Amino acid sequence: MIKDRRYHENGYEFIEELLPPEVISSFLSIMQINMGADRASQRRFLSEPGIALLPTQSYELPSAYFPFSLGLLWGLTARMEVVTKTKLLPSYAHGRIYPKGATCVVHNDRAANEHSLNLTLGFSDNTIWDFCVGQERIAENYLDNKDAYQDFGERPFDRIQMNAGDAVAYQGQHYYHGRIDPNPNAWSAHLFLGWVDRDGPQKDHAFDKFELPPPAKFFF
Ligand SMILES: [Fe+2]
Repeated sequence: MIKDRRYHENGYEFIEELLPPEVISSFLSIMQINMGADRASQRRFLSEPGIALLPTQSYELPSAYFPFSLGLLWGLTARMEVVTKTKLLPSYAHGRIYPKGATCVVHNDRAANEHSLNLTLGFSDNTIWDFCVGQERIAENYLDNKDAYQDFGERPFDRIQMNAGDAVAYQGQHYYHGRIDPNPNAWSAHLFLGWVDRDGPQKDHAFDKFELPPPAKFFF
């Protein structure tokens, strides 16, 4: 039963209703307003064809184009610290809308994804699309091998069913993951969030290496 999985023992942990339905649907609506109200506007965010992880083009929304997602990333830091039992700093936030039939090949993440959160924002047809995580931790000397696979092959893996507002906290750098079945919805919206151990080997990836803003000043 996947709901029994624990972050350190199993590499991931399912978090039911991380955010209330009203919050998650409003977040997605604000994301859509930011992208535009028609097809032509939204297609400005279409990924380049041929990205290795994504056999089908998708809409990509890094936080540079949608800083609202950074606020959620920063705000969820305390919750992720409880799950990971680790003092964290945020690294990045990235939104993605997959079209019907899309898959995400099996892969492991870059170092900025030491502690990851895969948050489901919504499915057009309310049909759950499984997120899959491998059961075996990747050996340290294999982490930088960025090969990607169509499926898990012989490797054992878990299937996780998320509704909108549910999330999976997972060790993205250390466990293979992906969506191996074709997306059954007309579209499927997700937010990927990453943190690093603030005192750990990936601490240099905090804030995705972007320079922090200068101290605030106010004038009356
Ligand atoms: Fe990933």
